Amino acid sequence: MSIETTFAGLTLRNPIIIGSCGLTANAANNKALEQAGAGAIVLKSLFEENITRQTEMLTDPAAHGEAADYLQGYLGEHIVDEYIELIRESKRLCTIPIIASIACHTDGEWVRMAEKIEKAGADALELNVMTIRTDKGYADGELEKMHVDILRHVAECVKIPVIVKLGANLSNPVALIDKLCGCGAAGVVLFNRFYPTDIDVEKMEFVASHPFTTSADLSTALRWTGIVSSAVGQMPLAVSGGVHTWQDVVKSILCGASAVEVSSVIYECGVQWIAPAIEAVEAWQQKQGYDDAAAYRGKMNARDPEHAERLLRTQFLKYMGTIK
Ligand SMILES: Cc1cc2nc3c(=O)[nH]c(=O)nc-3n(C[C@H](O)[C@H](O)[C@H](O)COP(=O)(O)O)c2cc1C
Repeated sequence: MSIETTFAGLTLRNPIIIGSCGLTANAANNKALEQAGAGAIVLKSLFEENITRQTEMLTDPAAHGEAADYLQGYLGEHIVDEYIELIRESKRLCTIPIIASIACHTDGEWVRMAEKIEKAGADALELNVMTIRTDKGYADGELEKMHVDILRHVAECVKIPVIVKLGANLSNPVALIDKLCGCGAAGVVLFNRFYPTDIDVEKMEFVASHPFTTSADLSTALRWTGIVSSAVGQMPLAVSGGVHTWQDVVKSILCGASAVEVSSVIYECGVQWIAPAIEAVEAWQQKQGYDDAAAYRGKMNARDPEHAERLLRTQFLKYMGTIK
């Protein structure tokens, strides 16, 4: 019996990937995550703004004029160089796949950074396309087109697999993922979590709300994984957002995921969460008589009309209608 899986063309010893977060911003930490059993690691994101700033510094001598600008530019440059070092050092210390990550929101010159990331030895690159559109003049499909343009340009620069991490604010993830599939995406992560904001009513100030998810947050990713894996079966998917228990891992695979990306649970429970979760998934697989995850991946997805009904609107009508 095997718990090995493949995601985005990468072979993983198990489906638990550590998602991009502060815990993956340090090579020694990444080694500890590997030793604790992680299947792969997504490094903390490098932000598009940092890359753009460095490019400006290198191409526009006027950017050195103001002391403040210089300081900012230096900071940007420094961050980019540190990031390349993080990839190199993580690769030197770890044997599991190391996935670099860029948080981006425009299709610009920064995409060439992907070449440096590939050269530094990253096994894959995840693009966290973080953008919310609020303009009244918004043209339908602009947000989706942005994702496709960014992916196409990055994929032109590199040979390593390019993964797209999507926000849940899309009108039709199926249509977008189908397009991404045609433009060379090696995998898709459902979903990125937007910065959680809240209001302190005493001070009347915006404050950061709780940064971590719970298992209750999983349902959005499960729903769309179940729908997308049925409609765009050839696209490898990873669930992110609300995976907190071994059962959440199994649910994600049943809906069609090849892997899960976890962050909150590692912050809350530590790296010691990983090994028992893997063992429990293995034990479940054995009890159910499955040789590997491929044998049950997508078993609960929308290909079955009854599951489709549960994942789509009809069930909502029945369920909500019965609560008095
Ligand atoms: C403290 C923290 C920092 C994060 N930083 C990033 C980041 O730099 N890039 C990114 O793509 N996602 C980032 N995330 C989002 C996670 O990768 C993940 O998608 C999200 O937390 C949902 O997964 P979870 O329920 O396992 O936490 C961060 C999450 C946390 C909690």
